[in-house]
Amino acid sequence: RRLVVLVSGSGTNLQALLDACADPAYGAEVVAVGADRDGVEGLARAERAGVPTFVLTVAGCADRAAWDAELARLVGEHRPDVVVLAGFMKLVGDAFLAAHGGRTVNTHPALSPAFPGMRGPADALAYGVKVTGCTLFVVDAGVDTGAIVAQTAVPVEDGDTEASLHERIKVAERAMLVDAVGRMAREGFAVEGRTVRFGADVE
Ligand code: GRF
Repeated sequence: RRLVVLVSGSGTNLQALLDACADPAYGAEVVAVGADRDGVEGLARAERAGVPTFVLTVAGCADRAAWDAELARLVGEHRPDVVVLAGFMKLVGDAFLAAHGGRTVNTHPALSPAFPGMRGPADALAYGVKVTGCTLFVVDAGVDTGAIVAQTAVPVEDGDTEASLHERIKVAERAMLVDAVGRMAREGFAVEGRTVRFGADVE
């Protein structure tokens, strides 16, 4: 199964997938890594693994819709079975969803539907919850609203800062991502309303 991974940052989730894919039994291969900005560690990780990369900035496109359509085209060139947004800090739009909806997943560092958006760990801390976590979901037109593929709970500990909490969540997030994407690749999957079913191909 072919994975295209999109990143904006450090790429530790990408690295976990690259490491998992090194074992043929995992059943998937990262065929390309894209980013919305240059010079990020995620791209360097892909290059070290010998995976082709591409960068598409919004500033380099006529407008946001043009960026979205071009992103869909670039991703499509690699014929992905699953597109993984792994710390990709942009919302994809209509053209992208028309091309790759139903096979695009994203990770969120909170237990959806709680604390959507860019500040999941900070918002959980500020609210005072004792348990938060991470969510893998099938991307739809909302912000962190898509059908849930997997979730893992993570405790909030006394004295946590946003950074310490996010780091603990990211450990769980990487394991969740590797496990769930592996199942999607090996077993196939289908999205039926808000339910993601393994064992049936989306195609
Ligand atoms: C992850 O926690 C992701 O959910 C969040 O940003 C982090 C990305 O980490 N949106 P990395 O780039 O994979 O290290």
